[in-house]
Amino acid sequence: MVCLGNICRSPMAEGILRSEITKRKLTHVVDSAGTGNWHSGEAPDRRAIATAKKFGVDISKLVARQIDRGDLESFDKIFVMDLANYDAVLRLTRNAEEKAKVELFLNQVNPGQDEEVPDPWFGEADGFIPVYKMLEAACTNFLNTIEKIHQS
Ligand code: 4NP
Repeated sequence: MVCLGNICRSPMAEGILRSEITKRKLTHVVDSAGTGNWHSGEAPDRRAIATAKKFGVDISKLVARQIDRGDLESFDKIFVMDLANYDAVLRLTRNAEEKAKVELFLNQVNPGQDEEVPDPWFGEADGFIPVYKMLEAACTNFLNTIEKIHQS
């Protein structure tokens, strides 16, 4: 899960996906990172922590970090929150296989629409709730797809 700062959108997405994976008794590895490094080493934004907590997901222990080329190799799927993240991550890719891993996360909700998860950082605390709901919907659809693949 990748956003700009790795303190708002992507840590919420990481927390939701990990929580859903545990609930479904799956074993996939989830992580998140930012394309920027300004917040590396920091905990998620307090508004992100509070929003996730409201829905029963604890992200308070996550630590921000910057994405690196190794992530493109290690992970099977790289979900990005907006088009700026998409461009930044694509610049890190070295081959077609890595490029194919990168996808806008909301395409899990509305395929092919290339919608962006809005950056809640500059807004009010209540702006985090709709963002959380979008991330939750995308996580659910993604895991439903994965489970279908496993079953077939
Ligand atoms: P995020 O939000 O990309 O969802 O973590 C942001 C956090 C910090 C900044 C921008 C976006 N910033 O400019 O510091």
